[in-house]
Amino acid sequence: MKVGVVGAGYVGLIQGVGLAEKGHEVTIIDVDKHKVKKINEGTPPFHEPGLKKALNSVKLRASTDYASLKDCEVVFLCVGTPPKDDGSANLKHVFSAAKSVKEHLGGGVVCVKSTVVPGTTERVGELLGGNFSVAHNPEFLREGSALSDFRSPDRVVMGGDEEALNVLEKVYQNFDCPKVKVTVRASEMIKYASNALLATKISFANEVANICQLLGVDASEVWRGVGLDSRINPRFLGHGVGFGGSCFPKDVQALRKAAESRGYDAQLLDSVLKINDEQPKKMIELLKSMLPDLKGRRVGVLGLAFKPGTSDLREARSLKVINILLEAGAEVLAFDPRAVSEAKKVLGDSVSYAGSVREVLDNVDAALVVTEWDVIKNHDYSGFDKPLVDGRGVSKPNRFYRRIGKPF
Ligand code: UGA
Repeated sequence: MKVGVVGAGYVGLIQGVGLAEKGHEVTIIDVDKHKVKKINEGTPPFHEPGLKKALNSVKLRASTDYASLKDCEVVFLCVGTPPKDDGSANLKHVFSAAKSVKEHLGGGVVCVKSTVVPGTTERVGELLGGNFSVAHNPEFLREGSALSDFRSPDRVVMGGDEEALNVLEKVYQNFDCPKVKVTVRASEMIKYASNALLATKISFANEVANICQLLGVDASEVWRGVGLDSRINPRFLGHGVGFGGSCFPKDVQALRKAAESRGYDAQLLDSVLKINDEQPKKMIELLKSMLPDLKGRRVGVLGLAFKPGTSDLREARSLKVINILLEAGAEVLAFDPRAVSEAKKVLGDSVSYAGSVREVLDNVDAALVVTEWDVIKNHDYSGFDKPLVDGRGVSKPNRFYRRIGKPF
């Protein structure tokens, strides 16, 4: 099939390469000519495991010209929906991409992949007019394993009318997983509900861990016992410093806003965000239980990226932790195997950087584990005779070890 993808960002490029691997003829459109050039040269504009190899092994064309979408049976809109100041999603890229598709294509199926509030895809349909059918087809890709998530999804969700669903069925015919066919609005909502539920699991695990701490219970033992209930499952119950990234905070906030604008007070979602905001402070409280005055102290921050396997710092817990430390008058020495150049853009020279875990430990009065990279997880901390606070519960303890949800 001839398939078009608008937006060569994270979602679009994975969608394009993944569908090309399945034998579709894919054209990707992006307004950024440097990005387009890189893709055509076989270099992904961002890092994702396996992507360079996959990009170089498929037939895929990138262009800045929407006219290249001619003859495509379906065009996926994969443009960003960044948050506005009030937390609601900014949809201007979705609508302008739809307008450009309309200018260059006589008709066909336009499928929104971006995470959008229910009702948005219908507005795209109104903008496109009667010659087009619209659909929604959310992505569930995790940064760091996006390509393998794409290749073996738990499910493919597709929302649309019969014509659109038939085309999407053809697109995804070689995927061996359940296909969930629903209305466009349900498809849009499934994405929000999935991310909000995962974020809720994490905040729930954090709230219970905070209570465990007060009651003298080790939360890791609790989650081992709870997670084995097949109705619950152990994933996304990792308690600690909380969730970050470009999706969970943004999507929970956007869903909350969408509810609020229709007069509903989404109390649970509110609490999910509130608890998440508090967890970095809990880490610092644990630090202060051993080092009450942080003024003039050097504190090591191990891990800056919002999770291992990425250099992405969006909503990273490290930034919150560092902020609190700097406000308390501490000096920060940070280490991350991949995110330092990104961190420098955000933090400038308000913190110093080390080239290894060892270099941090040799030069600080205390250390905080914020991102569970293997080099951080596997380090031997037994010789580090100073406060160590573990926000992910991964490092081997030393003599002065504290973690959220672990009594001391
Ligand atoms: C998330 C979802 O997992 C994807 O399914 C979804 O497609 C994506 O958002 C999106 O909307 O595009 P991602 O943001 O890449 O993917 O990262 P996750 O692996 O889900 O982790 C998110 C955050 O939760 C990280 O900061 C991680 O450290 C934290 N986390 C995760 C915990 O604090 N505890 C856990 O048990 C699990």
